[in-house]
Amino acid sequence: MRSYDIILKKRNGQPLNKNEIEFLLRGFIKGQIPDYQVSAFLMAVYFKGMTREELAEFTLSMAGSGDMMDLSSIPGIKVDKHSTGGVGDKTTLVLVPLVAAAGVPVAKMSGKGLGHTGGTVDKLSSIKGFQTELTTQAFIEKVKNINTAVVGQTANLVPADKKLYALRDVTATVDSIPLIASSIMSKKIASGAQGLVLDVKMGRGAFMKRKEEAVSLAKRMVETGNRLGLKTRALITSMDQPLGKTVGNALEVKEAIKTLMAKGPQDLTELCLTLGSHMLVLGKKANSEDEGRAKLEEILYSRKGLDKFKALIESQGGQSEVIGDMDKLPCAPLIEEYHCPAVGFLKEIDAFKIGMAAMTLGAGREKKDDFIDLSVGIELNKKAGDKVEKGEPLFIIHSNSRERTAKAIEVLKDSFILVKEKPQPPPLIYDKIKK
Ligand code: URA
Repeated sequence: MRSYDIILKKRNGQPLNKNEIEFLLRGFIKGQIPDYQVSAFLMAVYFKGMTREELAEFTLSMAGSGDMMDLSSIPGIKVDKHSTGGVGDKTTLVLVPLVAAAGVPVAKMSGKGLGHTGGTVDKLSSIKGFQTELTTQAFIEKVKNINTAVVGQTANLVPADKKLYALRDVTATVDSIPLIASSIMSKKIASGAQGLVLDVKMGRGAFMKRKEEAVSLAKRMVETGNRLGLKTRALITSMDQPLGKTVGNALEVKEAIKTLMAKGPQDLTELCLTLGSHMLVLGKKANSEDEGRAKLEEILYSRKGLDKFKALIESQGGQSEVIGDMDKLPCAPLIEEYHCPAVGFLKEIDAFKIGMAAMTLGAGREKKDDFIDLSVGIELNKKAGDKVEKGEPLFIIHSNSRERTAKAIEVLKDSFILVKEKPQPPPLIYDKIKK
């Protein structure tokens, strides 16, 4: 077998078989196939796509390139969730305790934030002492004890993805639906759960800007997961405006705690209940989404979800006092309000620009190894559809330097649109895909 022939076959739009895929990926990981040939292959996939069978084989081969987590010693049906990335997306912090409290084991591996989107591991690290690096054995023991644990991805989880992503990044092949689908689903397959609920974001702050793209990505991931024995469903949800009212690591942890006290923003609460209802159905703790939702509402209002979050923090060595005293979380020294320049209704709050403003403050990373400041970020006083008076605070900026505040304000100034008539608030959930 020669890589040249595999590239040629793909370039001519013919599907590759299992052996060809294995040959290419294994050779690439071992350094036997050079980057320039794999780059050509990626570009051929970009233009010619992949068939369903091919995508499943490619995903499986990627998943098998490193450690495959074996969760079989944990009783019950393990269900995972994944978001394709958003601004202010602290869903995992709320959803995981709720679902775990409902009896579904959640062994969650999460990523760090990159670019304008945040990551769960960074958010959790704003809780003093919280360990997101655990041995596999400790991770599994913790899930057995309290039904959940949340850790960073192990170093050897899908090494093929790390290497391929680095090439995609420099060859204009990141935004290929089969390559995104295989990248995400290979990590989920390797993480070992039996059920998966995907939150595919669409809109200004998301990877997928248009609904057709988001639906297409969701369908390919759902199909691939189900084909490979991972029961998968997807929701297409809005990322035109940030989720909830905070963007920035410690600020988002505070908002998640408030949400688990049933005092959180409506959109975040609604999204968690909806995603969670699907997780309960997949975990066989509810016969329908309505039943799942009712169970989760009971858990939310009785604060059993908050108790589970406390147990999660303690299980991973964190300071659980933050729940009763949120001032124990990192607080930024400078707080400044940005006031609305005119009266009107908020038509839009651009999630991408808010994410960029938060990054300017130091809440996110431009490059993988950048330092981030857990205390800084932006609070939104209003959401799209709300009325705002002239001079009313629109944003509250938590910062560690006046210079950074000024730079963030320059971005924030341009991040919203005011109109005279009350607009329809944008939908939160656009679609759900089960097959
Ligand atoms: N997230 C991933 O994990 N991989 C991609 O290719 C895109 C988004």
